[in-house]
Amino acid sequence: MGDAPVGCGPVDHSSNRPAPASTDGLVIAVDGTSGSGKSSTSRGVATRLGLRYLDTGAQFRAMTWWLLREGVDVHDAAAVAARCVEPEIVSGTDPQEPTITVDGTDVAVEIRSDAVNAAVSPVSAVPEVRARLLDLQRSVIADAVQDGGIVVEGRDIGSVVAPDAPVKVYLSADPSARAERRAAEQGATDLAATQESLLARDRIDSGRATAPLVQADGAVHIDTTPYTLDEVIGLVAGLVAELDADAEAPPRAR
Ligand code: DC
Repeated sequence: MGDAPVGCGPVDHSSNRPAPASTDGLVIAVDGTSGSGKSSTSRGVATRLGLRYLDTGAQFRAMTWWLLREGVDVHDAAAVAARCVEPEIVSGTDPQEPTITVDGTDVAVEIRSDAVNAAVSPVSAVPEVRARLLDLQRSVIADAVQDGGIVVEGRDIGSVVAPDAPVKVYLSADPSARAERRAAEQGATDLAATQESLLARDRIDSGRATAPLVQADGAVHIDTTPYTLDEVIGLVAGLVAELDADAEAPPRAR
């Protein structure tokens, strides 16, 4: 934990990771704050390497959308815990066209609404919600591993969901860069409000008792602020190439 970000000095990311001989069955864990470039990077890496892609944030958003629609008070943890077993959430894992449905309804647009943005962090802090979605995430990962491998993005992927992932990345970016990216995605014009909303979610995501946002053991920290998307994708793909090189090197050279 806590190594210097890539681009800010030398990083030793050779420890703590078993090395697969290829991308076959590979799991890449991508964690980080909102607006750090997680989704674009994860989809780009998955596309480049021919892997599946899972957006776990979309699952928490889908759960939140359903609870709001049902009229559940999202600040009442007991009520959220009691109802969170009900919706059937299904994630499609094509990185070029990821999908998310709740009880068969496509909610890809609705889960990005202001109402969901405002409610998703308290919902994500409820242990029963996390346990339900953890089961779902692990079953998607197990299926994808049979089918070539997967890039999984979220807040607790390297620490809780897939702690044995051979490649773990922690992405961050300056708050102003994050707000600019998020505002551009959402067509928002009030940068200060966008930045405050991101920072408010960071505080809840990092401060919760269950599976808080942390840089996992063995994760490589990449500060994406100075890089283009293609460059960040290249950095992550480079970590995979290094694993392959390590696995192929004769024992004396390792
Ligand atoms: O990545 P995102 O902004 O779409 O995630 C939405 C929320 O879901 C975020 O505020 C925290 C929560 N989340 C989480 O707690 N654990 C994850 N693995 C992914 C997201």
